[in-house]
Amino acid sequence: MQSITEIKSLRSQIKAWRQAGLSVALVPTMGNLHRGHFSLVEKAKTLADKVVVSIFVNPMQFGANEDLDNYPRTLNEDKQGLADLETDIVFTPSVDTIYPNGLGAQSFVDVPDISMGYCGGSRPGHFRGVATVVTKLFNLVQPDYACFGEKDFQQLQVIKTMTRDLSIPVEVIGVPTMREVSGLAMSSRNGYLSADQKATATVLFKTLNECAEQIKSGNKDFIALSNSAKQNLEAAGLKPDYFEIAQRDTLKAATLEDTQFVILAAAFLGSVRLIDNLQVVI
Ligand code: PAJ
Repeated sequence: MQSITEIKSLRSQIKAWRQAGLSVALVPTMGNLHRGHFSLVEKAKTLADKVVVSIFVNPMQFGANEDLDNYPRTLNEDKQGLADLETDIVFTPSVDTIYPNGLGAQSFVDVPDISMGYCGGSRPGHFRGVATVVTKLFNLVQPDYACFGEKDFQQLQVIKTMTRDLSIPVEVIGVPTMREVSGLAMSSRNGYLSADQKATATVLFKTLNECAEQIKSGNKDFIALSNSAKQNLEAAGLKPDYFEIAQRDTLKAATLEDTQFVILAAAFLGSVRLIDNLQVVI
């Protein structure tokens, strides 16, 4: 595995692959890799001849009061895991490499409609930061494919929308959420949780499943379903941020005519913000 930090070396290796007629898949990450991330790498390997994984904790997508400084950084372990999977390149640029003019005076990419509400509502500017850095990574690597987790469902839809709207020649692939045996969605932020909190956190996925069962059995009172789910989370000691039933592809509020849904949820457990979602087709 090649470990690359500079744009020039990255571009020259990609160019050599292109000249040899090889296809490329990109997996963007912020590091502290777990089995969820590795499942994206495995998927990428099935799609293309060469796989590039980027590790970059992107300051532009963190709000002022968020965990940028404390975000877990485990570069050595991450590289070991990626080498074990026979990743071709791990790209670990510095903040200056990605944002040579600083974070203020930047061009940016905004995908307004689909970024509204849910995580976009609770984290203003978050998806602008995500869309901007992903555009930059797409331009640097120029991959044929890029893999993103369904775990961050709104993020996946933002990137799919952006890619389509701007005619970016990358095929965006969604990969199902990897979970602990308990059902808890794997996340770098789970490392902040105590053993007790991890047990409590499983209520999020359980509540999503209960809501999905209700929808499947014909209950379409989406507001009542969401309110009762929030009460359920509160009773378990979680502080719901949002719990909403949306149309799967547009993320607009679900209507009686819809048949494809996604239930999107975020909740705080202490200071840790957990997110999860579940798709439902009736
Ligand atoms: P990060 O949180 O490191 O996640 C990197 C990728 O791994 C994302 O596509 C995310 O959805 C996926 N992922 C995380 N947990 C997963 C799980 N349990 N199962 C399957 N996939 C999972 O998301 C980001 O970084 C950043 O916003 C990024 C896209 C890299 C832009 O900075």
